Amino acid sequence: MCDKTFKALRVTEDETGKFVRNIVERKLTDLPDGDVLIRVHFAALNYKDALSFTGNKRVTRNYPHTPGIDGAGIVEESSQPNFKVGDKVLVTSYDLGMNTDGAFAEYIRVPAEWVIPLPAGLNLKESMIVGTAGLTAGIGLYKMKMMGQIPELGPIVVSGASGGVGSMAVGIFKKAGYQVIASTGKDSIAPYLLRIGASEVVDREFVNDDSSRPLMKPKWAGAFDTVGGNTLATLLKGCKPGGCVASCGLVGSPILSTTVFPFIINGVNLLGLDSTNFPMNERQQVWDKLAGMWRPDLKSIATICKLHELDPYIDQILKGELKGRIVVELET
Ligand SMILES: NC(=O)c1ccc[n+]([C@@H]2O[C@H](COP(=O)([O-])OP(=O)(O)OC[C@H]3O[C@@H](n4cnc5c(N)ncnc54)[C@H](OP(=O)(O)O)[C@@H]3O)[C@@H](O)[C@H]2O)c1
Repeated sequence: MCDKTFKALRVTEDETGKFVRNIVERKLTDLPDGDVLIRVHFAALNYKDALSFTGNKRVTRNYPHTPGIDGAGIVEESSQPNFKVGDKVLVTSYDLGMNTDGAFAEYIRVPAEWVIPLPAGLNLKESMIVGTAGLTAGIGLYKMKMMGQIPELGPIVVSGASGGVGSMAVGIFKKAGYQVIASTGKDSIAPYLLRIGASEVVDREFVNDDSSRPLMKPKWAGAFDTVGGNTLATLLKGCKPGGCVASCGLVGSPILSTTVFPFIINGVNLLGLDSTNFPMNERQQVWDKLAGMWRPDLKSIATICKLHELDPYIDQILKGELKGRIVVELET
């Protein structure tokens, strides 16, 4: 078993400082130490993976490296009693694919604390359509509900709606009974967004207020933001009193320039989402909801490809051009 080789999509920094991607053969002994060896059947692409693929040192410090923060598969070895050979499991986030060899490979080896038994109601492929994107959207809904954001209060805006996290948020909020306004920069994407759960599609300029007003006439009851920057500032300004704005992303900008007025006049709640370190007991609750009551139309959101077909999608996600979730089926 130790000498067994497997395929992995590896990134190497060449002598000119360029980051080059190649599918290579690796040995199981090349993998880091860990409690659980998993034969990866499906992995999924996230924005963070694209940053790791292109040499972003805030995501991945050392190269050569195998990205992939989302993987699902079958346990082949386990030193811990809570996981047995043959168990179907998934791993998302923690350090997987960042500074630990990731899931764009036929095998990963990880600490048992990172592993989740496959939730009833999802198969391995479906769990990766959900992946970190769905977990993040689910954490947003979970936190908003805790703060009293009920569907009866009115519509939720989802920004970056056609992307991976955005698509999952549109689908999940709709399934949980909310009216969803999908904000997008893509001209021809409305039919897709309406199909996955939006009741209205707006251009991203709708949530890009460039006035100096500290507050706008309230237009939405809450928001789920993947964009950051002025989009997040606008979502705060235009939120109805008492509503929640959940922030998870920075594809537009990491800078937030706002005033305190949305908070101290309207009592708006700004909720931060961090899927990487979200506690395991709550993580499992959110996964169970994602597999059940909140499960969106996963088929419409997914594009399935093989490892050697992933390359163009990495470039597209960096340009904000992707639609939905890209799931990689590893050869079996
Ligand atoms: N906090 C967490 O735990 C967590 C977890 C997962 C992801 N994230 C973050 O969430 C964000 C989205 O991730 P993702 O995997 O969904 O990426 P993605 O698939 O590329 O989706 C991002 C979407 O944002 C929109 N967009 C892109 N560039 C934009 C710009 N300059 N201004 C406004 N909108 C823009 C596009 O949608 P439209 O064309 O429809 O507008 C794009 O499809 C990233 O910043 C990622 O790092 C955070």
